[in-house]
Amino acid sequence: MAAIHAASFPPRERWGEDAMRLQLELPGAFGLIDARGGFVLARVAADEAEILSIAVMPKARRVGLGRTLLTAAIAEARARGAAAVFLEVAAANAAARALYAQAGFREVGTRPNYYPGGAAALVLRAAL
Ligand SMILES: CC(C)(COP(=O)(O)OP(=O)(O)OC[C@H]1O[C@@H](n2cnc3c(N)ncnc32)[C@H](O)[C@@H]1OP(=O)(O)O)[C@@H](O)C(=O)NCCC(=O)NCCS
Repeated sequence: MAAIHAASFPPRERWGEDAMRLQLELPGAFGLIDARGGFVLARVAADEAEILSIAVMPKARRVGLGRTLLTAAIAEARARGAAAVFLEVAAANAAARALYAQAGFREVGTRPNYYPGGAAALVLRAAL
């Protein structure tokens, strides 16, 4: 997961193996990995879920892996009792925003200065 993350995000936003392990140890957290080169990390707390990270290796993109992983994470969150899923995405991340819009996510807020470079995040929500 750390290797896929490193290939998918700028250096200052990368999560190494320790960061991945810490995320997976959070109560309610789960990760799904696809051997073709993608993962999704999510967490369920009470009836809300959060997509913590999703990434696909550059060479494996645009063949449906991201959509498959997102769909599987949403199904797992629903099975664990979530009624809604939240996530943050950079306004400039057109690929991720298109993926989320297709999956039924809608903008519900913004978080200024969210990313290390100072960019704002959009907060998206999908009802399950
Ligand atoms: C976002 C990401 C996970 C998408 O993974 P992917 O496997 O390429 O996505 P899919 O092939 O399943 O595409 C699903 C839909 O997303 C949208 N999409 C994906 N990549 C896109 C791109 N480069 N430009 C525009 N739309 C895109 C399309 O609507 C696509 O559907 P379509 O192929 O039928 O047009 C991938 O680009 C990635 O890892 N990016 C870097 C990490 C990142 O930004 N993660 C999200 C952080 S919030």
